[in-house]
Parts: sequence; C-alpha cells; structure tokens
Amino acid sequence: MQTIGVIEGDGVGPEVMSEALHVLELVSRQDQLAFHIERFDLGAERYLRTGEVLPEAEQERLRQCDAILLGAVGDPRVPPGVLEKGLLLKIRFDFAQYINLRPVRLYEGVDTPLKAKGPNDIDMVVVRENNEDLYVGAGGVLRKGTPEEVAIQTSMNTRAGVDRCLRYAFEKARARAKERVFRGLSEADKAAGFRGQLSMVAKTNVLTEAHGLWMRAFNEMAPLYPEIKTNYYHVDACCMRFVTNPEWFDVVATNNMFGDIITDIGAVLQGGMGVAASGNINPERTAPSMFEPVHGSAPDIAGKGIANPVAAILSVGLMLDHLGYHPGAERIRAAVARVLKAGTPRTPDLGGTAGTKDVAKAIFEALSA
Ligand code: NAD
Ligand code: IPM
Ligand code: MN
Repeated sequence: MQTIGVIEGDGVGPEVMSEALHVLELVSRQDQLAFHIERFDLGAERYLRTGEVLPEAEQERLRQCDAILLGAVGDPRVPPGVLEKGLLLKIRFDFAQYINLRPVRLYEGVDTPLKAKGPNDIDMVVVRENNEDLYVGAGGVLRKGTPEEVAIQTSMNTRAGVDRCLRYAFEKARARAKERVFRGLSEADKAAGFRGQLSMVAKTNVLTEAHGLWMRAFNEMAPLYPEIKTNYYHVDACCMRFVTNPEWFDVVATNNMFGDIITDIGAVLQGGMGVAASGNINPERTAPSMFEPVHGSAPDIAGKGIANPVAAILSVGLMLDHLGYHPGAERIRAAVARVLKAGTPRTPDLGGTAGTKDVAKAIFEALSA
C-alpha cells in the first residue's frame, strides 16, 4: 500500500484535485494498485484560521508519504509569499525536489496561439532546476520604507546543484530519444549520429559568473552523452524561439527563475494554464516527490466550477510515471488525448462552455471504455 499525500490548497485547487483523485481512484482500481489517500489541511483557510502555514508535524507526516499531489496555493486574502514560500517552496526545498519537470505537449484538437503550428511542432520537456537561484531567499532589506531603501536578493548557483540538474536533463534527453522521433535534429545531425537534443537556457552574456558556471558544467558534461546534440540559447532568444520555432526544442534545461517564466510560455503554447502539468522530483527518492498543475489558484475563476481539470489529471499521470506505474499513466494521457481530440466537452479556457466536472467525467468515461 502506497500513501499519497493530498494538499488541495486554495482557489481552484480543491476543484481540480477532486477530479484528479477520481481519475487516480479509477486507474488504481483497474490496475489493482493500492493507494491510501492522506489529506492535508494546508493553505489559505488553515493559515487564516490558525496562523499556521506548514507545521512541523504536518511536514513530517508529508515526508512519510510515497508521493504528494498539490492543487494550488495562493489567496488574495493572504500577503504574497506567505503560502507560496512557506508551503510550496518549503516542500520543494526540504524534500530535495531539485527537478521541476514540465512537459510541453500540444494535444490534437487543442488550439495553440501559434499560427501554422500543430502537435508535431510542440512536444518538449523543460527541466527546471528547483532548489537554487533567486528562489533560495538569500538577501535582505536595509532602511526599509525610506528613500534610501536597499533591497538585495541573490541568485545562488552551486556546481553540485547545477551538475545534478544537467545530469537529469541529459538522461531525460537520452530516455526520450529511445522512444520517439528526434526533435529539432536536421537530417545532417541524424546522419552524424545524434539521437536526442538538449538545449540549455541561461544568460551567459550578462550573468557571466552564475551562468558561466552553468555553461562550464554543461560543456563538461556533454562529452559523456555523445549522441545528444547540445545547444544553448540566451533566455530572451529562447522566449522568441519558443514562439517562432517550438519544433526546435526537445529537452530544455534551465535555472529556477527562467524556468518559471519560460514554462508559462510553454503552457500557453500547449493550450494554456489549464492543461500544463508538472512534477517536483526528488530523483534519489530520499523524500517524496510532488505533482501539481503549473497553474495557480486562479482566483478569477475560483468557485465557478469552470476550471480546467486536465492539468491536474495529467499531473496524476506524471506521479504514476514516477512511481513506476507507466501503463496507468499512459492510459490517462490517452484518455485526455481522446477527449481533447473530440472537441467537446471542454472548459471556457479552451473555448468551450463545459464545467470542470463535465470534462472530468468525459475523461473518466474514456478511461473506462
Ligand atoms: P494563475 O495560474 O492562478 O492564473 C493565471 C490565469 O490562468 C488566470 O486567468 C486563470 O483563470 C487561468 N487559469 C489558471 N488555472 C486554470 C485552469 N485550471 N483552468 C482554466 N483557467 C485557468 O496565476 P496568477 O493569477 O498569477 O496567480 C494566482 C495565485 O496563485 C497567486 O497567489 C500565485 O502566487 C499563486 N500561484 C500558485 C502556483 C502553485 O500553487 N503552484 C502557481 C502559480 C501561481
Ligand atoms: C510555479 C509558481 C511558483 C514558482 C510560485 C507560486 C512560488 O509560479 O509553480 O510556477 O514560482 O515556482
Ligand atoms: Mn510559475
């Protein structure tokens, strides 16, 4: 019996999580997997009620889980950062979830805002470093509130932290190359023996120290993966190329801050925040990994029953992959693909008029068929 910790969180979090759990339950019944669901009352309501964000006892209970599913955190009634840093980032950091895995895949039947691009052009995976950079909270404020105020927030990059992220990204490129058409490789590249591609994204032309480290680490690791074609983009050019030439990308490795930003572009390429899934992975499995939609609590649509459950449901698929239950994960993706291809039902973010539950029900039925 494996235990799945569930943090529904705030806003649309509980709405999409409830549907994701139905899907998990169905797949585990079909495949005779035994999951025990352990719910955690964490997020804005708990904070507003008790002042607690992530009590130690709760964190220890989370640590005992085999994996965690999270809906979303963030609430307009709570000052920015309290829940985002105190709950979400604390779990990512304390549980050494140093990879943020964010697939960007355009499903058939979903509109991308990119003219003349289709499912064959948009299928990449972003490997975002998840434990360092500007997110570590190094810095401080002096003379706060005065005209002489000084605010410093430092990007921390360690060689060990960069190496482990890049190693994961190279391995991901190798694994993807085994099972699919090679993306972004020219015929000449293929003739030269390349199988798979890894693009690193940074800003070496300005952040010469921090990203000089990234570049050296990348260049030193590349010869260990001779069949993987490597290339490099400055982050500004990457933003442009995601939009003009998404088909150039296969696996993308980047730092925490840039990864946050470029994966919102990635989400839009694949149809929007409603369909983008992610995993916060601890590859060594010294603590549980956590799976969540890329989107936040969406206060503008919370409580209306129209949030797209696809991102949360695909996150369950990523969790099953991580736990080694690939057939169930594949069937979830196939069911989502079938419903999206059918064109209906879909939620308003994808141009439809259906509600969260209608879409989830259709996916549920596709899974049962
Ligand atoms: P957001 O992702 O919540 O919303 C951005 C836009 O996308 C909104 O218009 C929203 O309606 C839409 N959207 C998001 N999820 C959707 C879904 N499932 N279906 C349809 N439309 C969807 O980002 P935001 O508005 O910048 O942030 C809101 C709050 O969420 C903030 O407090 C922020 O800190 C937090 N946040 C949390 C996470 C997380 O928990 N992982 C991620 C991002 C933002
Ligand atoms: C995300 C979110 C988080 C991040 C916030 C809510 C801390 O934007 O998961 O993309 O910046 O990583
Ligand atoms: Mn983000």
